[in-house]
Amino acid sequence: MEIYENILETLGNTPLVKLGRFFSGPATLAAKVESFNPGGSVKDRIGISLIEAGEANGQLKPGGTIVEPTSGNTGVGLAMAANLKGYKLICVAPDKIPKEKVALLEAMGATVVSCPTNVAAEDPRSYYKVSERIRDEQGAYLPYQYYNPANPEAHYRTTGPEIWRQTDGKVTHYVVGVGTGGTISGTAKYLKEQNPNVQVIGVDTVGSVYKYYFEHRELPPEDQIHQYLIDGIGEDFLPTCVWWDYIDGIVTIDDKTAYRATMELARRESIFTGSSGGAAAAGARQVAQGLGADGLVVTLLPDSGERYLSKLNKQWLTEKGLLDGDGV
Ligand SMILES: Cc1ncc(COP(=O)(O)O)c(C=O)c1O
Repeated sequence: MEIYENILETLGNTPLVKLGRFFSGPATLAAKVESFNPGGSVKDRIGISLIEAGEANGQLKPGGTIVEPTSGNTGVGLAMAANLKGYKLICVAPDKIPKEKVALLEAMGATVVSCPTNVAAEDPRSYYKVSERIRDEQGAYLPYQYYNPANPEAHYRTTGPEIWRQTDGKVTHYVVGVGTGGTISGTAKYLKEQNPNVQVIGVDTVGSVYKYYFEHRELPPEDQIHQYLIDGIGEDFLPTCVWWDYIDGIVTIDDKTAYRATMELARRESIFTGSSGGAAAAGARQVAQGLGADGLVVTLLPDSGERYLSKLNKQWLTEKGLLDGDGV
């Protein structure tokens, strides 16, 4: 019989798919399609890992409560593991997240607390600070995906080995969006341990701090940090889950480039991913363009565009000036 013990056993081993229509050049560009995970995103990989870390260090007791600041995907990953293991989950989310994500979290049994997007991370109303308050008031376990090494370690154990195996060790470049940093850091550490020549490039948004920090080793001036429309990547602070020692470069992708790439992937590759996937693919294509036939660039598409249909539609894209008439 081939019966899984539970849905989480289907985690990982997502397909690596060539993007031969999105990019044609002497080099090869391929993407890990993370929507194949059981909860629909790359964050399923860290949900169980963060919960097991809390169990191991004693912060999470049987039947206990987990609270996490999350824009949705990590919440789903945590909810899956929490349900299977008998924990309660509170997700603290910025109010810019699409309503589909809130509905999804609630459907999975989580409680969603909404916070203003437009306040600094140190502001007591920010979703980070509200999470800390709930932790202190309710004695909840706060995994804090931005600072918890169990986040990058999940990728060291799963995403990295998968890419190495799926490319027969021929991967030359790994180009991926940076949010908490977990995906890039854990995967990069694994790949560089196999082959130190693998180049690791992070994809950042305009308005975020990573590119500036990479170049200057300090935060940018305040007026360079601002809101943007891409979901899930870029930050206005420095999480410890970004392991800078394994990162060789950062490329910046603006909103329009990311959303156009998102729609291009849907129309040309039949892969409908979220805007962070569009940004990652756009950044990876820029890197691939400079390479010869030996270049094998791997990127990662974190989730599905179906999670953002209130944004990824003609009306919203037109309102935001992200389309140029041709619809792509
Ligand atoms: C949609 C989406 N894409 C990309 C990322 C970035 O991944 P990481 O946090 O591992 O850097 C996230 C993380 O929050 C996300 O939700």
